[in-house]
Amino acid sequence: MSKNLYFCLTIVFAFAFLSSCKKSDDETTETPKPLFYVPDGFPAPSGQLQNNPVTTAGFTLGRKLFYDPVLSKDSTVHCGTCHQQFGAFAQVDHKVSHGINNLLGTRNSPTLINLAWHSEFFWDGGSNHIEVQPIGPITNPVEMDETLNGVIAKLNRSTFYPAMFRSAYGSDTITSQGILRALSQFMSCLISANSKYDQVRNGQTTFTATEDSGYTIFKSKCASCHKEPLLTDLSYRNNGLDAHFTDPGRARITTLAADSGKFKVPTLRNIVLSYPYMHDGRLSSISKVIDHYRSTIVQSSTIDPLLSSGNMSISDAEKAQLIAFLNTLTDQTFITDKRFSEQ
Ligand code: HEC
Ligand code: HEC
Repeated sequence: MSKNLYFCLTIVFAFAFLSSCKKSDDETTETPKPLFYVPDGFPAPSGQLQNNPVTTAGFTLGRKLFYDPVLSKDSTVHCGTCHQQFGAFAQVDHKVSHGINNLLGTRNSPTLINLAWHSEFFWDGGSNHIEVQPIGPITNPVEMDETLNGVIAKLNRSTFYPAMFRSAYGSDTITSQGILRALSQFMSCLISANSKYDQVRNGQTTFTATEDSGYTIFKSKCASCHKEPLLTDLSYRNNGLDAHFTDPGRARITTLAADSGKFKVPTLRNIVLSYPYMHDGRLSSISKVIDHYRSTIVQSSTIDPLLSSGNMSISDAEKAQLIAFLNTLTDQTFITDKRFSEQ
């Protein structure tokens, strides 16, 4: 008798489970996000798309260019070589970027996430417009080593680019502005806002007890700089890596000694995917990053005031909780979204 009851209950649970899976499948397929949108709870975007509204044709052209090695001198390197979707558009497992002829850059390739909320680009803010920014990698001798005119000449010889430019801008003529605007449309649509962290914020799910403790530590020790919900406040700060600065950071742009050793606070969205860490990729794991904040903060003339009292007190148990929280920032929808992949 009781055996039968268990059997019936198993069947009932199995149905309930299957139908709940079915429901969530339907939900995800029912509401595909538009290419560009402002996620719930996000601030207003920086406005750099104002004169360059996203269209499907512009985005598609931008994606084609992003993954096209003809943008480099010997046609071996494309933007996606150093900005890989599975690594949240960072170059995974490379301390500093590897470009044309396997030449090494000096900085770690950052993630490309929620860039429509940024108004300055690169670790030192060396570019102040998303439309101008791609000129940097295209012309950099250790990245793609090409010229915009060189790219235009190559695209003009292609069988499909003139038609793609016509769909995007109404004319077959390939211009550098058209190239840069399409790239910036594609990059502006790289929106990540569906991690477990976001789902908790939107009331769709809850943290485990460990994740929740990690979130509490995060809010008290990290969020002043890695500000929610972008998980960066987009300012330039020195988080105590060095006493002497081989890379001047923000000072390279402002020439102010007070900016030496300051770098743009990186977003922590998808952070477990984009190792190694820091502007020069010196730390290979999240565990080492937390050890930095709890034991190796170096004082210097430009150390951030929030860190000037020295190492943070974070116990081993708290470290594990913090890591559990940081894992909730991974957004599988973002890294598997086919619209962002090489076609
Ligand atoms: C050889 C590797 C390499 C290639 C190729 C490359 N990048 Fe980058 N990218 C980097 C590195 C390294 C940085 C950081 C540079 C710095 O801060 O000085 C960067 C930074 C950026 C940023 C700034 C992100 C931020 O948060 O400020 C954007 C946007 C970007 N790249 C887009 C592109 C585009 C578009 C292309 C193709 C036209 C491209 N990259 C090609 C390595 C590369
Ligand atoms: C005073 C501001 C500040 C505080 C507080 C702070 N960070 Fe950072 N964080 C930064 C800056 C600036 C960088 C980039 C430094 C560099 O590369 O030179 C950074 C880099 C990182 C990186 C590497 C990101 C990447 O893409 O390479 C991680 C991970 C990180 N911080 C996690 C944390 C955690 C966890 C906490 C709290 C325990 C924390 N940070 C507290 C400013 C801060």
